Amino acid sequence: MKLRHASKFPKAESSRLFVVLVAENSLSEGMDLLNSTFGLGLKLEKSHAEKGVQALRFSGDTNVVVYGLGKPNDMREGLRRIMSSAVGLANEHKFKSMAVALPGNHGDEQGGYLNAIAESIYLSNYQFLTYKSKKDGNSLHEGVVVSDQKANEVHVERAFKVAKTVAIARDLVNEPVITLTAKALAEKAEDLGKEYGFKVEVFNKKQIQSLKMGGLLAVNSGSVDPPTFTIMEWKPKKAVNEKPYVLVGKGVVFDTGGLSLKPTPNSMDSMKSDMAGAAAVICAMCAVADLNLPIHVVALVPATDNRPGGNAYTPGDVITMYNGSTVEVLNTDAEGRMILADALSYASKYDPELVIDLATLTGAQIIAVGYQGCAMMGTAPAETKSAMAKAGMRVYERTVELPLWEEYKDLLKSDIADMKNIGGPSAGSITAGKFLEAFTNYPWIHLDIAGPSWLSGADAYRSKNATGFGVRLLVEFLQSRIAK
Ligand code: BES
Ligand code: ZN
Ligand code: ZN
Repeated sequence: MKLRHASKFPKAESSRLFVVLVAENSLSEGMDLLNSTFGLGLKLEKSHAEKGVQALRFSGDTNVVVYGLGKPNDMREGLRRIMSSAVGLANEHKFKSMAVALPGNHGDEQGGYLNAIAESIYLSNYQFLTYKSKKDGNSLHEGVVVSDQKANEVHVERAFKVAKTVAIARDLVNEPVITLTAKALAEKAEDLGKEYGFKVEVFNKKQIQSLKMGGLLAVNSGSVDPPTFTIMEWKPKKAVNEKPYVLVGKGVVFDTGGLSLKPTPNSMDSMKSDMAGAAAVICAMCAVADLNLPIHVVALVPATDNRPGGNAYTPGDVITMYNGSTVEVLNTDAEGRMILADALSYASKYDPELVIDLATLTGAQIIAVGYQGCAMMGTAPAETKSAMAKAGMRVYERTVELPLWEEYKDLLKSDIADMKNIGGPSAGSITAGKFLEAFTNYPWIHLDIAGPSWLSGADAYRSKNATGFGVRLLVEFLQSRIAK
């Protein structure tokens, strides 16, 4: 689908739906706008004064809907959610185009509001049709955001660019492991690098072996498919930062649990999504390049499947990691931290300003926070974490901070190695974070996205199954570092 900005309403036609969004108690304002624009004689009825959808005219060439927003706690999110209903309505009635206006002057917030409206149209219209024989998808294929100032065009363009990369992330996460192996994921990153203009280098199994990435190789040892380690780089000439921001994404293309097999059926069903962190960082690179952001960013994706094959790594094994330290494996299902540990150690060679990892790391994150946000941990300064939390509020990919108190480290003590790979029944997300911390020596933020990256039912513009969580958060955060 296409998104564009227009300074006035496009012409009325039977395939186009006009949507006007108004605040509570100002439905008359929306109707005045429609009446004067289209020469309609719509009157405000009592029932129209309430919050919600007002299908004022729904036939012929001039199809109009006014939505009252009510008083949402968060205006941007209110707009995204309303637009998601509007997209549903448009598709239900087979409209091909939708033109949306938000009357009134919203000051500094105007751009953010238009961005929210535009991105929600695109994201709400997302479908994964790759494997449907009959591709009878949504009728809607154009979204027009109407605002009289030409200067607002940039907000719609930005939303379009970012939403497209979120959709790529959703596609990647929805893709099953039969087609999306570690090698296929790396190739996809290479293709995207060519398309968007960032550099991509892929280490194959031989190179990973000669680098002695013990964690990644251990997890891969039960697989018939080789691992990959993908390095992406966006280094514009006018970068504001001397030291790069490094993104790291967990790329477990399928997590069976390995020999510590997940108790299928339920717990394994959605585990093709265990590379959602990888998808988020790859697609954030696409967006950063497409927006031509003046910031030097590197992204690392260690990738493999986790299976109980012939030579699979085994509880009791002691693994020597990329940084030379040893880990006693007591549960092969705690594989994310094994591959991330190597990538985090590798990240230190960039002398990074900040490293941010995204990972579907623990079921405990879902117990603690659910699907409404991710868990944030890390050693970065409070100001940096606060900037991440603020970016999260703006895009509504929210973060909640968990502590990394030193006492938790005791839970990872091993009898025979430097650390073991599981902590025990308590504080599961934190012990995973604590494990990762041991492989960092720079400012670092860890985002455990197990819950919000995959939904068992649609939640407005957050689609059922893969949500693409993390892309908008990373782009918003990185952009905020430029303005800083
Ligand atoms: N990929 C899972 C975490 C996960 C669970 C993501 C549910 C999304 C939904 C991870 O590799 C895992 O299995 N973690 C274990 C760790 C445990 C063995 C210490 C977990 O959380 O149970
Ligand atoms: Zn696992
Ligand atoms: Zn996993």
